[in-house]
Amino acid sequence: MSTEETLILVKPDGVARGLTGEILRRIEAKGYRIADLRMLTASRELLAEHYEEHEGKPFFEPLIEFMSSGPVVAVRAEGNRVIEGFRALAGTTDPTAAAPGTIRGDLGRDWGVAVQQNLVHGSDSTLSAERELGLWFA
Ligand code: TYD
Ligand code: MG
Repeated sequence: MSTEETLILVKPDGVARGLTGEILRRIEAKGYRIADLRMLTASRELLAEHYEEHEGKPFFEPLIEFMSSGPVVAVRAEGNRVIEGFRALAGTTDPTAAAPGTIRGDLGRDWGVAVQQNLVHGSDSTLSAERELGLWFA
C-alpha cells in the first residue's frame, strides 16, 4: 500500500458543462476518497504559481486566462497510488489523443476548442501534489 494525496481540479469547462458530478463519480468509483473539496474562481496569481513550470511557454497566458475565466472545483483526493491513478483516469493532455474510457477521452471536446480545455488537472508527482495542495488548500 502506498497511500497518497493528490490535487485534482475540475477546470472551468468541466464546471460550465455540468460535468463536476460525473468527474467526481469516476474518482470515487475508482475507490479514491474525496478528503476535501472547494469551489472557487482562482486568481491569476494563484494560477501562475500553480502552473509555474509552464511560465514562458506559448500556451501559458491563454491557459491562465482560461483557468481564471470561471469557477473550478478543487479536490484533495486520497488513495493508494492516487497520483498516478488519477492521471491514468484523466487520460493524456490532448482530448483527441486521450483513450476512450478516460475522462478526457470520453468527455473532452475535440472540436472548436483549445487543448487547455481538457476538463481536469491532476498533480504529476508526490512533489507537485504536496506543492499544489499547499496552494489550493492553504
Ligand atoms: P501539462 O502539464 O503539459 O498537461 P497536463 O494537464 O496533462 O499535466 O500542461 C498543462 C495544461 O496546459 C494542459 O492541461 C493544457 C495546457 N496546454 C496547452 O494549452 N497547450 C499545450 O501545448 C500543452 C502541452 C498544454
Ligand atoms: Mg501538468
